Amino acid sequence: MATPGGAAEAAPAPDAPAPPATSTAADTSAADPGASVEALTVTLEQFLAMDATARAALPKARLKKMLKTEQGHLKKVAKAAEMAARAEEESRVRAERAAGVVLEVDASLPAPRTIKIRDLDAPAVADGDAGADGDAAAAHPLPGTRVKVSGWVHRIRWEGAKLLFLELRDGTGFLQAVLTGTQCQTTDAINLHRESSVTLWGTLSADARAKGGVELRSDYWELVGRSPAEIEEVLSHDSNPDILLRNRHLVVRGTRASSILRMRSIITQCFREHLFDRGYIELTPPTLVNTMCEGGSTLFHLDYFGEPAYLTQSSQMYLETGIPAVGDCFCLLPSYRAEKSSTRRHLAEFHHLEAECPFITFEELLDRVEDLVVDVVERVMKRGGSLLASVNPNLAAMKRPFKRMTYRDALVYCRDNLIYKDEETQTHFDFGDDIPEGPERKMTDKIGEPILLHRFPAALKSFYMQKCDDDREVTESVDLLVPGVGEVVGGSMRMWKEEELAAAYKREGMDPKPYYWYTDQRKYGTCPHGGYGLGLERFVCFVLGIHHIRDACLFPRYRGRIEP
Ligand code: 4AD
Repeated sequence: MATPGGAAEAAPAPDAPAPPATSTAADTSAADPGASVEALTVTLEQFLAMDATARAALPKARLKKMLKTEQGHLKKVAKAAEMAARAEEESRVRAERAAGVVLEVDASLPAPRTIKIRDLDAPAVADGDAGADGDAAAAHPLPGTRVKVSGWVHRIRWEGAKLLFLELRDGTGFLQAVLTGTQCQTTDAINLHRESSVTLWGTLSADARAKGGVELRSDYWELVGRSPAEIEEVLSHDSNPDILLRNRHLVVRGTRASSILRMRSIITQCFREHLFDRGYIELTPPTLVNTMCEGGSTLFHLDYFGEPAYLTQSSQMYLETGIPAVGDCFCLLPSYRAEKSSTRRHLAEFHHLEAECPFITFEELLDRVEDLVVDVVERVMKRGGSLLASVNPNLAAMKRPFKRMTYRDALVYCRDNLIYKDEETQTHFDFGDDIPEGPERKMTDKIGEPILLHRFPAALKSFYMQKCDDDREVTESVDLLVPGVGEVVGGSMRMWKEEELAAAYKREGMDPKPYYWYTDQRKYGTCPHGGYGLGLERFVCFVLGIHHIRDACLFPRYRGRIEP
């Protein structure tokens, strides 16, 4: 386990064996009988372990030096023991005194108004307009108001024995609180550690030095759930990524991680608002399926009451069945990919915003993807406020129209800009080659703006994609690439003629039987239609300027991690 500051982490554990000496009196003289005895070294640990005979065998000058070192060491040990005993005594006396301290509410004080910390951001109204105790305050509790607030101790700072500063976190914000006098002397106070849950009663006071310009002067408090001192040992600023991931359940309480989770919720809400505003209906297709959508290599197989089944790779095909029922529709559900690669943009479980639209053209599909992304970024900027500013102050509105580039043009761009299929041999991409993540990101970052990359070769894309009328080698498909992240959206027009789909099953060697319901879409009143899928976590990375996709999830799932 790491410790704050990392100093203790670097020191060996108390029961660890002493490190081997560079040389010792015994082994060096055996190895080199001619060596000067004055040059021989003995570590303090070795000297402390020597008996009188071994010590007598040391050269005189060395023995004298080591005895002096030993004396200094013993003095230090004695001093440390004395200090520890004093500290123990002090804490015993403190604990004894604390046992006699009982806090009581001062009944002469005004009844408190129960608040959430976010209420402090609300526009101010004159005191008296808001509800009484127990009322979730709709209005700004002005300085001078007595409030009751519950949350977790985010930070703790003692200033002497009778002054305690707490930073309280309640999931809606942070609030500095000051505890004074006997409030700091109870058993709960002297054993208070970070992440304890508490309820505080006190008066709000304007204070320019406090975060948010307001602090709570507590007059009474209660411990709700204790947190032991070991919380300080679990995580530190320099904990390695594995420790952070193992303790993700505690990491999410941190300032940045919790702010990201809150922003992710706002982003999700903005997607829903955008889609509802544009007239889409939300559907919830199943995620336990017996068909594949995006190729067999990334399927998670499972035993479904004795039948083979999968975790869905995409809800697209089921969503397509929704369009004759409800028209434009969308879903926001997990998709699963047994990705072998664990890059900074791949997860085994991700949240997939998918939409399906009847009677549209490919051009209209590109417009819809662009509209979604531009409008949602604008909504997030409006809603995000100070929370967004604390996570990513650099988010800027996106300009329309997005650059539109065909796959064939991308090959030319890569050739002209020396972006290779193989760096070592400087091999260029040819038609039919997949442009993998690395070169694709190089191209996107070089262009420096979002790109709707479209018309990919049929051989590279999924079986259901509609071929272009004017070029049967390519499909009406699109990926939206954004700087810093790469692909955030993948979409296409769907094959809508029954015979074409039957030929596609055949070409891919797929058994059409389990897809009967998908084929029926083409049998009973087919229509041209298209849709897209957006990876929510990748989009969150883009909007919040997050480098690694794992930081955009509550509990990331990827190869090698299934807990917590
Ligand atoms: O390009 P993909 O594979 O497209 C589909 O699944 C279509 N059926 C979607 C549709 O048309 N309804 O995936 C769509 C998006 C990608 O652009 C990416 O943002 C995200 O899903 N995605 C992943 N995100 C995280 N980890 C992974 N392993 C992902 N795979 C895809």
